[in-house]
Formats: sequence, C-alpha cells, structure tokens
Amino acid sequence: MALNLGSVNGVEVRRLTAPEARQWIDGLAAVLVDCVRGGASVSYLAPFSHGEARAVFEGVVAEVERAQRILLAAFVDGMLVGTVQVVHALPPNQPHRGDVAKLLVLRSARRQGVGQRLMERVEVEARSEGKTLLVLDTVTGDAAERLYERLGWTKTGVIPSYALYPDGRPCDTTVFWKQLPAQS
Ligand SMILES: CC(C)(COP(=O)(O)OP(=O)(O)OC[C@H]1O[C@@H](n2cnc3c(N)ncnc32)[C@H](O)[C@@H]1OP(=O)(O)O)[C@@H](O)C(=O)NCCC(=O)NCCS
Repeated sequence: MALNLGSVNGVEVRRLTAPEARQWIDGLAAVLVDCVRGGASVSYLAPFSHGEARAVFEGVVAEVERAQRILLAAFVDGMLVGTVQVVHALPPNQPHRGDVAKLLVLRSARRQGVGQRLMERVEVEARSEGKTLLVLDTVTGDAAERLYERLGWTKTGVIPSYALYPDGRPCDTTVFWKQLPAQS
C-alpha cells in the first residue's frame, strides 16, 4: 500500500550523526532491502537479507564516524522512508569533489518528492563540506535518471552492461556530474 505523504512539506530530511545512524540502522536496512527486492541495481544481488543490509549500513556508520561520508535520511511521520549518501573523503588531488551514492526510497513512499528532497539536501550538505563538484552513476532509463536530469545534473554518457540487476541481468549505467556554486 502506498504511503500518502500529503505533500513534500510532510517530509523531513535530516543529516544523521553516527549515533543517530546507529539508532536508525534497522530503518536504513529496511529501505535498502525494499529497493533490492524491487529490482533496483544498487550493488547487491538477490536474495538479500535484512541482516546483510544492516551489515552494509554498519560500514556506512563507521565512515560517518570517521567523517568520510555524509548520510541523509528522509522521514514521514517518524518513519524512515528514504536515504542517500555522499562520500567526501576522496584522494588528496580531489578535495573539491564528492561521490553521491545509494539514493534509496521505499517503494511505498515513491513519486511524492522524497527523492528530490534528498537530492536537494545533498547539495547543501556537500557545499557545507567545501565540495563544488558532485559525481554519481545510475541505471540508464530508470526514475533516478529522470530525477537527476530534472535537478540540473549533466549527463556524461552511458557505460553498457556496467552492473547487474539483483536477478543477475546486466544493466547499462549513466554517469552524471553537477557543479555546485562555491560558498560565499
Ligand atoms: C530513484 C528514486 C530514489 C526516486 O525516488 P522518489 O521519491 O520516487 O522521487 P521523486 O518523487 O522525487 O520523483 C519520482 C517521480 O515522481 C514524480 N512526483 C514527485 N512528486 C509527485 C507528486 N506529488 N505527485 C505525483 N508525482 C510526483 C516526479 O515527477 C517523478 O516523475 P518521473 O519518474 O516520471 O520523472 C526511487 O525510485 C528509488 O529508490 N529507486 C530505487 C533505487 C535507485 O534506483 N536509486 C538510484 C540509485 S543512483
């Protein structure tokens, strides 16, 4: 059943500290499992358990703790419905760049602006870390690709058969970048 968010104003997006992320780890894992079960190509193959997803986020939390990764979560009525990350610890010659990863929204909460809200906040948080260039890749032809184009990301190109869907079929990947204004 679809969650009715009413309006995007009903969505709260927060940057999680490591202790907060630990507190929300089951909610984060549930979103990842739901996306993989829904067929999203987000690094993992089926079958993919809640325990495996928790282990993934334990690794993410450790990087948040070491200030290597930004973790955002979207909430509706106290329920975690979406998440996204920015890897900001990159090689010394790319201090201005961040990699956006794992934009994930529960299937029941989609098409109501949660993904857009998360991506808008990504830019704010990345800028607060001094980032002026963001890069990401996504499955070619999916909702995420339309979202990034709508939000002004530039498409670099398509890499054929870059990754696999959870069921093992190959999928093409589109690489995007976005320049952020430097903070005044
Ligand atoms: C990609 C993803 C994060 C988008 O999340 P979302 O919350 O549905 O995103 P939005 O609601 O902002 O936008 C999605 C669509 O809903 C539409 N929409 C947004 N608000 C709406 C509203 N109030 N009423 C009707 N439609 C709405 C948008 O126009 C967009 O339409 P489009 O797909 O035709 O372009 C989600 O589909 C997902 O988790 N996919 C699986 C994981 C994945 O592929 N992640 C990307 C990895 S890089």
